[in-house]
Amino acid sequence: MRQSISALLAIVQLTVAIQLPFLPTSHTEGYKFDPLLHLPGISPYFDAVGSGLNHKAPRDCEVTAATYLVRHAAIYANDKDYEDYIEPFIKKLNITETKVRAFGILRTRRDGWSGPLAFFATWKNPIDDPENQLEKITLQGLKDSQKVGKHLFSRYPDLVPTTKKVYADKKSRTKDTATAFIKSFPQDVDIVEVRDSHETFHSQNPHKACKAFTKEPGDNELKIFMGKYIPSIISRLQPFSPVELEQTDIMGLQQLCGYESAITGKKSDICHVFTDDEWMAYEYAWDLKYLYMVGHGNPLSPYLGFPWLNTTAELFEKFHDDHAKEGGQRFFLSFTHREVPPFIATALGLFNSSNAFAEEFPTDRINWSRSWKMAELIPFLGHVGIEKMTCKRSGAGLGAEADGGNEYVRIIANTAPRPIPFCQDGPGASCSFEGFKTLVADGMSAFGDFDRVCGNKNKNMDGDGDVEGEL
Ligand SMILES: *[C@@H]1O[C@H](CO)[C@@H](O)[C@H](O)[C@H]1NC(C)=O
Ligand SMILES: *[C@@H]1O[C@H](CO)[C@@H](O)[C@H](O)[C@H]1NC(C)=O
Ligand SMILES: *[C@@H]1O[C@H](CO)[C@@H](O)[C@H](O)[C@H]1NC(C)=O
Ligand SMILES: *[C@@H]1O[C@H](CO)[C@@H](O)[C@H](O)[C@H]1NC(C)=O
Repeated sequence: MRQSISALLAIVQLTVAIQLPFLPTSHTEGYKFDPLLHLPGISPYFDAVGSGLNHKAPRDCEVTAATYLVRHAAIYANDKDYEDYIEPFIKKLNITETKVRAFGILRTRRDGWSGPLAFFATWKNPIDDPENQLEKITLQGLKDSQKVGKHLFSRYPDLVPTTKKVYADKKSRTKDTATAFIKSFPQDVDIVEVRDSHETFHSQNPHKACKAFTKEPGDNELKIFMGKYIPSIISRLQPFSPVELEQTDIMGLQQLCGYESAITGKKSDICHVFTDDEWMAYEYAWDLKYLYMVGHGNPLSPYLGFPWLNTTAELFEKFHDDHAKEGGQRFFLSFTHREVPPFIATALGLFNSSNAFAEEFPTDRINWSRSWKMAELIPFLGHVGIEKMTCKRSGAGLGAEADGGNEYVRIIANTAPRPIPFCQDGPGASCSFEGFKTLVADGMSAFGDFDRVCGNKNKNMDGDGDVEGEL
């Protein structure tokens, strides 16, 4: 009897399974909110959806060269995030520690945590050796770096093997990321440390070559917005906490969701403490900070973004239609820091709407329709690349002008193509190479005066302004 019932059930299940694709019960495409996609600057790598364009090269186009700027892999925590937000919370957590003896073994527990915070009784702090861990790449980060390297190799199977050198700076986090990344490549690759005085340093690490750049802009807006969204979180969570929660503690907790997940490779329990709208508010708070520090809200940003675009335009000029004849390197990688992809995006007008930024970024509410979303650009290992393509058909894009030849460029950010607002006349909303060169030349004439705006008196100064860590 029991057997025949289970046989019957199996048949029913089979029928259901077969029918599923034909009778979808929901149109959500499996959508589920995931906080890890809303943590600007501190989430493990994920591919961005972007504007929805196909990630592969458009039909009849072939990528003939590409250059990428890659942010280093996951670190345990950024110094400033740790000092300002995480450490103060860990200190409070420590006060609640007690020793309990169970079965003759002395264990440490934390008392008084309940409800959604009950897991803190036994939670293991992933940053348990800050002296040695902060600003260092995590083991999971190294694995992820290798994965992203593999992903780029599968995307450019003909270009990647031409790579002989990749570039890092003197920080161990960029070198370690590079070392893991190139393990996925089939050939030997040299990692070149770019020195401060070298001209490519200035395009790869412009914020460190610019005296006038500081990490302070946006701190004020971040603080104001924290004051808006955090008090209601404190009221909700305080009853479950044995210590008094302050705004910086909530910020530290939200950051630990990202850092702990990036350290362990598993989603942190802390991620479940907050609601979707609390995460969206966190995301907005950091988008505000990045807007003023490295985005459209900082007048220095295009000055810091154009040098790399100029270097890239010059480099691509060297590769001609019949690239197959040339044996030289056609795939370029530079490992850098979180500030740089946003400078490039800002110089190109990406993640920018047509409205004045002052209107788009109120500090008393979330702007849900903004286009500036840094979670999609600067997760750990976030990258921005430019592909040069040769296409069989030309001028096939919307608003195509006269025949501009058959060479185009596409901007890629975390796998997804991002059309350039002012240049999308090619296949798949790519930009004709001529148009790109014009855009860069115009940009350099408007924003080329790097040393003047940066207040760098001596051009070959030792420009390492990196005194307080990464952010
Ligand atoms: C918290 O306590 C642990 C020992 O349980 C200690 O190693 C650590 O340094 C403490 N952290 C802080 C920030 O006080
Ligand atoms: C653009 O890059 C080229 C090659 O690196 C360089 O010679 C030129 O001076 C740069 N242009 C400006 C305006 O900096
Ligand atoms: C970004 O948007 C602002 C506001 O409309 C505009 O002034 C600026 O030119 C845009 N930046 C770029 C590079 O497109
Ligand atoms: C949000 O930004 C959009 C542009 O992206 C702008 O049109 C709109 O006015 C802004 N909304 C608010 C509430 O500031």
